[in-house]
Amino acid sequence: MDPATGAEPRKEAGQRLFFALWPDPSLQRRLHGLANTAVPSGAGKLVQQDNLHLTLVFLGWTNHDRRGCLETAADTIRTGSFSLTFDQVGYWRKPRVLWLGCSEQPAALLDLVAALQRSASACGFVPETRPYAVHLTVARKVTRDPGPLSIAPLEWPVRSFALVESHTYPEGARYLPLRTWSL
Ligand code: 2AM
Repeated sequence: MDPATGAEPRKEAGQRLFFALWPDPSLQRRLHGLANTAVPSGAGKLVQQDNLHLTLVFLGWTNHDRRGCLETAADTIRTGSFSLTFDQVGYWRKPRVLWLGCSEQPAALLDLVAALQRSASACGFVPETRPYAVHLTVARKVTRDPGPLSIAPLEWPVRSFALVESHTYPEGARYLPLRTWSL
């Protein structure tokens, strides 16, 4: 078991999973365009357009039974829809990522994250101890802090959340939404 997340070690039958907000293709296109203008050229590697998402809870390697447990728990979540406005760009030195953030974080988003964290704990995952930080990663391998950057605010009406599988390939990660739930 991964002591950080409580996830199963990698197994043939396992999947690497996380809960996320998954933008529709037109919003992914707008987010990618925003990232393209915000990230200084040569400052890192932009996240591929169809991989853009907002992580809610990272789960890690998950076997079939635990996935079933998570899905059953997710079926009961009723936190309601909300809107996110991305109006900030931030940089984290350690993971070397540039991200879009929201100066206002709706209570319904934080309720959703808390409900998913409780679901994960109930299914045997070790709860995340770091406070949840709303961030949508738009570039990786950014080796230097690009300094203050500003963006035109972008609104995302959120109507659903997703269980997503992460695949790792030599050319990078690919994320595949497996199932969505309406809010
Ligand atoms: P990131 O955007 O900050 O990199 C799939 O890996 C998603 O889960 C990514 O968006 C990643 O966030 C997030 N994540 C959170 N914790 C993680 C972990 N311990 N390992 C890998 N990804 C993690």
